Amino acid sequence: MKPPRNRTPEREARPALNEPIATRRVLTRRDGPLPGEAVPVILEVAPNADYALLDSGNGRKLEQYGPYRIERPEGQAIWLPALPQSEWAKADAIFTGDTDEEGMGRWRFPRTPLGETWPMKHDGIDYLGRFTSFRHVGVFPEQGSHWSHMETLIREAKRPVRVLNLFGYTGVASLVAARAGAEVTHVDASKKAIGWARENQDLARLNDKPIRWICEDAMKFVEREARRGSRYDIILLDPPAFGRGPKGEVWQLFEHLPAMADICRDILTPKPLAVVLTAYSIRASFFAIHALMRDRFAGMGGRVESGELVIREKSAGRALSTSLFSRWVAA
Ligand SMILES: C[S@@+](CC[C@H](N)C(=O)[O-])C[C@H]1O[C@@H](n2cnc3c(N)ncnc32)[C@H](O)[C@@H]1O
Repeated sequence: MKPPRNRTPEREARPALNEPIATRRVLTRRDGPLPGEAVPVILEVAPNADYALLDSGNGRKLEQYGPYRIERPEGQAIWLPALPQSEWAKADAIFTGDTDEEGMGRWRFPRTPLGETWPMKHDGIDYLGRFTSFRHVGVFPEQGSHWSHMETLIREAKRPVRVLNLFGYTGVASLVAARAGAEVTHVDASKKAIGWARENQDLARLNDKPIRWICEDAMKFVEREARRGSRYDIILLDPPAFGRGPKGEVWQLFEHLPAMADICRDILTPKPLAVVLTAYSIRASFFAIHALMRDRFAGMGGRVESGELVIREKSAGRALSTSLFSRWVAA
């Protein structure tokens, strides 16, 4: 089988060693006591009206995204499905991954042919679900745990809050933050993803909210914000293991995350609220990013909470782990 062409924004090829990297920052020790800690913290998304993990097993998962039932591969589902085959057979869309066609070519629609997008909601915010060529559907529902936490922080702050959403993808986090009253800066390297995010802003009728949509390499962006003295109260970052900026800048998580976390600290306001990091598809434990966050946020007070984001399955109540996270919170 040929490797897939047209890689989607969310997953990029491993870069060659001689390609430019965006930062040369040398880390120095941060003075002061380490922040408090809470580990392990498991943040869970339960089945809800907008989204549900219906069942999983045999290397697949069956999910409900608004009106559609969708079947996709899931490497971790090494158990048996709990629902009968007749329930799986009701899927509206199945990711097959058996061709290397672009766009929707890797999806099969057993009932009726479906368009590329469909209306979805997250907690009352309208946006578009979308069949992408790399099995993603325009949203990562497990992020909902972070979004509600961030929303509470913004609302309870009772003052203007500036949010930076790095690696922001289709922008649902940016919309949640904007609806809660924050001034938002959204950064992503993919022009296509920025276009989808803007479309979502229209659909959510949040056009009057202050969101800056920026197509740029995340590392270059934070370095420039540090030089300019721009400051944020909340920073979200959900980097891929490997990625590229719009000018081919290389992002390698293990190589660049320490500098990224360090710069994020430098661009916080004097009274910051949180820095929320998620990592997925990497060979590491949450203890690794936990130690990194405590190390880089030494002297800041607050607490670092780390663990996993999981989705609770509706059929048999099993937890499907999707990612690792570590977040520094001020209070
Ligand atoms: C998994 S997605 C983030 C999902 C997002 N947190 C959400 O819940 O919707 C990762 C994103 O990182 C972007 N990306 C990859 N490399 C990048 C880079 N060097 N700079 C900025 N964005 C990058 C991709 O375009 C993709 O949209």
